[in-house]
Amino acid sequence: MSEEPGQLWAGRFSKPPALEAEVLGRSLEVDERFVFQDVQAGIAHVAALRDAGLVTAEEQERLCAALVEVRDAVLRETFVFDPHDEDIHSAVERGVTDLLGDLGAKLHAGRSRNDLVATDVRLYLLAVSGTITADLRALMRSLVARAREHAVDPMPGTTHARAAQPVTVGHHLCAHAWPLSRDLDRFADWKERSSVSPLGAGALATSTLGLDAAVTAERLGFDRPFENSIDAVSDRDVLQEYIAVSSICATHLSRLAADIARWTDPALGWAELDEAYSTGSSMMPQKRNPDTAELSRAKAARIAGDFVTLAAVLQGLPLGYQRDLQEDKAPVFDAVDTLPAVLQALTGAVSTLRIDTAAMREACDDPGLYATDVAEAMVRAGVPFRESHRRTGDLLKRLDGEGRSLRDLTAEEWAEEGVPDGAALLDPDRSIAARSGPGGPSPASVLAQCDALTAALGPQSP
Ligand code: ARG
Repeated sequence: MSEEPGQLWAGRFSKPPALEAEVLGRSLEVDERFVFQDVQAGIAHVAALRDAGLVTAEEQERLCAALVEVRDAVLRETFVFDPHDEDIHSAVERGVTDLLGDLGAKLHAGRSRNDLVATDVRLYLLAVSGTITADLRALMRSLVARAREHAVDPMPGTTHARAAQPVTVGHHLCAHAWPLSRDLDRFADWKERSSVSPLGAGALATSTLGLDAAVTAERLGFDRPFENSIDAVSDRDVLQEYIAVSSICATHLSRLAADIARWTDPALGWAELDEAYSTGSSMMPQKRNPDTAELSRAKAARIAGDFVTLAAVLQGLPLGYQRDLQEDKAPVFDAVDTLPAVLQALTGAVSTLRIDTAAMREACDDPGLYATDVAEAMVRAGVPFRESHRRTGDLLKRLDGEGRSLRDLTAEEWAEEGVPDGAALLDPDRSIAARSGPGGPSPASVLAQCDALTAALGPQSP
């Protein structure tokens, strides 16, 4: 416990906080990461103080230089933190005051850590969202490249993880890219809603100092200032939505990861992970495990947990700043760190995946994959679908009982079933080509999807 109250707010107090209270209250380890944004907000605030005639041009210059000096020291890890520095905001202000004495004491006029923290975290998320969407685009690009490469290669499409109908490998890979393009849209929507500056809201009720929040918003690169000062310091929907969008994206990645783990299962043998994205076993020398895929699958649970954590912190909180809100940052930063790690690992795994097109084609020998083609051939000959479905089912049952399959039917038997060209139906290339409509598995559709996905990525996007 310190001898004298050293906190920025100590004036009203005659006793320092208990050590354990101080330990509980510290958030520096978590919020140090947005020192850059804290100083950015500080510089914009000092400009507002200058506009309002509360500091001179010379004082503004010295305050900004001190803010930058503190920021650079923190970034270079030469800044000496004080045990009383509760959070990054207190540390920066204390650092400026240590450098400038009385002048430093002018910095916090008309602002509160309540509007400051809300500003910093928005600036931080807006900055990192750009690199995360770049990672997302990179994964999409790699999926699209692999899809183009395999636009014509057939594989058994599955429902319930069991052979269903032939599709193309490219079609399946595009099916993983489309959800990611919607995630990109969601990040863009989030950005549009989040570009609002809380600075100037003060503790909850703005200030009497004539600071222009709209000009401050513009200086910070936000689209607009807050509409309501209580809302500006109370809500954390910007963080919640960021985690929600990340969580949806992570869910998509987990399903891609699950397919990679499945395809590379030696029991199936449809693909092989590059060694760089596989792991061995400490005991069993023969093992090559798909840890990259498995961890990518599990990280979705973690980000969903981040969403639940923040939702639980926020639910039922009365408006206004409550210290509970300090617990908003750990979950959002966990999501910020986790999502790009998964995106980057999966981009590597996808771009180096060895897809065994021969094994996939061989798996298309399964005659059951063409049962729907047979039923639809009957429909084209005028049989109502329910009837053709039943007749095909009966045929399969009978063949099963005889230890035969559709491949063993003679031309005569096909003709008896009303499908004279039946034998030709049992061919993956024909089956895929026949599904030529937009959005289907045919090679032409896959190439059109690849073009559309590339267009969605934008011409020169990072
Ligand atoms: N570290 C705090 C947070 O993250 C900053 C705001 C503190 N404000 C207060 N009134 N105690 O929320």
